[in-house]
Parts: sequence; C-alpha cells; structure tokens
Amino acid sequence: MNATPTPLTPQQAAEALRWLSEMGADEIVCETPANRLAPPAAKILPRDPERSAPPSPDTSPAQSRTAADCAGLADIEAALAAFDACPLKKTATRLCYADGNPAARVLLVGEAPGRDEDIEGRPFVGKSGQLLDRMLAAIGLDRTTEDRERAVFITNTVFWRPPGNRTPTEAETQMCLPFLLRTIELQKPDVIVCLGATPAQRLTGRSDGILKLRGKWLSASVGGRTIPLLPTLHPAYLLRQPTNKRLAWRDLLSLRERLDAH
Ligand code: URA
Repeated sequence: MNATPTPLTPQQAAEALRWLSEMGADEIVCETPANRLAPPAAKILPRDPERSAPPSPDTSPAQSRTAADCAGLADIEAALAAFDACPLKKTATRLCYADGNPAARVLLVGEAPGRDEDIEGRPFVGKSGQLLDRMLAAIGLDRTTEDRERAVFITNTVFWRPPGNRTPTEAETQMCLPFLLRTIELQKPDVIVCLGATPAQRLTGRSDGILKLRGKWLSASVGGRTIPLLPTLHPAYLLRQPTNKRLAWRDLLSLRERLDAH
C-alpha cells in the first residue's frame, strides 16, 4: 500500500483552507512544536561592504521607557511598542492598545485582544466588539463621539493577543499591569467598567468569579484616586450565553444611573 498522500491541486488546497477557516481554525500549527519563548535566532545578514560598521544600539527614548515615565497616552503606546518583556508580543501580529475618546468619563477594560483585534490593532472590533457597541448605544454611549459625556475609552488587561485566544496568564497580566494602571491614571475616568473576570480581579484584588462580582459597584485605587468600578459580563460570554443578556442589561442600567447622578 502506498502511504504517500496525493498532492492537492491548488484549487483543492484553497477549498481545504476555506473549510478549515469556516470551522474556526485561525492558526497554522506545524508538525514540530515551536518554542515561542525561545530567544530569536540571530539574523545573519548578507555583508554590505559599504556598511561594514556594526549598527549602533537603539537609544530611542521609548526603548527604555517604563510606564511611570509616560506623560501621556501616546507615550504609553510608544513605550508598549518598544516593550519586549511580554512573551505575548512574540506571537501576536501587532500591538492593540486602546480605542475611543481619551476624554471619556467611562473607561472600559476588557481581557485581551482576539483575532480581529490582532489584525486591526484596536480593541473590540470583532463580533464581541460589535455586540459591545450595541450595548453601549442602548444607554447612549458611543466610542466614536467627541462628546465627553457620551464617550467611552476602551483598553484591555494585556495588549497583545494570547495564542489561540486563551486567557492571559497571571504573569502576562502582571507584566502589562503597570501600563494599564498608568493609562487609568492619565485618562482619569469617572468610572471603570470591567468586561469579564480578568480585569475585575486585577483591578480590585478580588478572586471571585464574574457571576459573583458583576453588578456590584466596587472600586480601584490608582495613583492616589479611588475610582468607582463596575464589573459586568464580557460580550463574548453573552454571545455564548444570550439568556444572560438580561444580567448585563441590569448592569448597563446601573451604569447609566450612576453617570446621570454624578
Ligand atoms: N475581547 C477582549 O477582552 N478584548 C478585546 O479587545 C476583544 C475581545
């Protein structure tokens, strides 16, 4: 018996790829496992006799900038772009920092960028982002408006997509936490809304699950300020459990009430 598979025609290969994509495959996995945590292999460049001097080290200010050094949100984005300590950066396509209006009263914090966010470099642009936009619109909020009263600013607990959309590890969120805290300090929201357990736990120090935390007004202490914080259900969870949208709706009404009262 001949075990060698018959090679696919280009048309069959395209068809197979389309089928895999429709089934939800979004990564190419090779037969040999890749160690994504290993340091990158040194690149051997072809010699250019006219440029024989070794390249000078990168001394741009962003290279060594810590979160505390950042004076504005654009600085944080630049510092993250130069931040190589988080292993998620190695597997992600691009940095996904924040979206919306930095002057907004409401800061939304999600868990981690997914596939669409990894491609676009903006949080919550995929299916769960579209649901989030509809939820926000239902209480008069909008990430695209310049009106501070109706605006939101959106970020995540980590700024690169975890492989296969897994939950970020404690180490990964801890590594990104100084940048999230500095974002909160500089953006100065009136309220923080946490989408899902990961941001709620990181910012409040609690370890309860989201079904216990949601709908309760808690607080985050950041940069000497105590900021009211409302955990609610993540829109991706609501897409899987639509009957729980009624719980999220209660949380949204509570947010609306708070914004109207203060
Ligand atoms: N889910 C998140 O938590 N964040 C995003 O940006 C997208 C999906």
